[in-house]
Amino acid sequence: MTVNARPMPKISLRNIGKQFVVRPTKANPQGSILAALDGISLDVAAGEFITLVGPSGSGKTTLLDLLAGLTRPDTGRVLVDGREVTGPGRDRAVVFQQYALFPWRTAASNVAFGLEGTGNDGVKRSRRERTSKAREYLDLVGLSGFEDRYPHELSGGMKQRVAIARSLAYEPDILLMDEPFAALDAQTREQLQEELLRIWRSTGKTILFITHSIEEAVYLGQRVAVLSSRPGRLKQIVDIDLGERAGTGDVRANKAFVEQRHRVWSLLHGEVLKAREAGHAKILPDGSAPDEKRPSSNGKAA
Ligand SMILES: Nc1ncnc2c1ncn2[C@@H]1O[C@H](COP(=O)(O)OP(=O)(O)O)[C@@H](O)[C@H]1O
Ligand SMILES: [Mg+2]
Repeated sequence: MTVNARPMPKISLRNIGKQFVVRPTKANPQGSILAALDGISLDVAAGEFITLVGPSGSGKTTLLDLLAGLTRPDTGRVLVDGREVTGPGRDRAVVFQQYALFPWRTAASNVAFGLEGTGNDGVKRSRRERTSKAREYLDLVGLSGFEDRYPHELSGGMKQRVAIARSLAYEPDILLMDEPFAALDAQTREQLQEELLRIWRSTGKTILFITHSIEEAVYLGQRVAVLSSRPGRLKQIVDIDLGERAGTGDVRANKAFVEQRHRVWSLLHGEVLKAREAGHAKILPDGSAPDEKRPSSNGKAA
């Protein structure tokens, strides 16, 4: 082994391409091929917190599905710890915008659910162990005392905390998060961002976090990856340095934050306009997106 070898990336995307077949419809009798991702290469270090922004329809969720092992790329390779991802695994947990909790199970029982099979170590856990793990992770997300509540007795923010606890409970190395806070009100959202940073620091997880909020991306990420409009290509990766955060009060008001937020905004803004111009903003229910330019109100092509 070479002494100077760089550490192996936790996640490595190598020249990823992904297409979808759009089935024929009345409006589009031939059907078509839709390029969702093109030539994405990205390494994420172990323990890194990376955020991903891009216009709607730029392939963010598609990228996350590939990492989760829910779909396979058409070209390129998805590697985790240097091994090709061939399906879902316990080393990766996904947190979606919708909490997807079982309404008939209590918070603790929802968290324990993920522990009912065999663990990463291939060992089955006893009921007592599962309960104690569930409590530990509910505590970590700030929900001690709420173990016996049912989802309908919890606020949106609390439900998302349960979902995060459930993902953490089976101790994955990687958390894949797809706009997990998008449905929450602004205050709850800020609170959960804070919590997530705390959890990340205390657990050392590798986190890939998708958001359409530039502010959220800059606040959370050590790097922000900006995707282009469809087909999603990696437009730029912005390193975020907010200096020492602890005890600085309103980080979002700091000069460094405002500047870096603006930088990401500028990168993204051009792409959102392109997507809108190409009509990508309008995705039809069958998954197709009209690519033709639409005339603007003054009669000129937009
Ligand atoms: N299973 C699918 N079949 C056909 N088209 C799809 C499918 N999944 C996603 N798409 C299309 O691929 C593009 C990227 O989708 P997605 O990854 O969901 O974008 P984002 O999460 O960035 O909004 C969109 O145009 C979407 O309509
Ligand atoms: Mg999405």
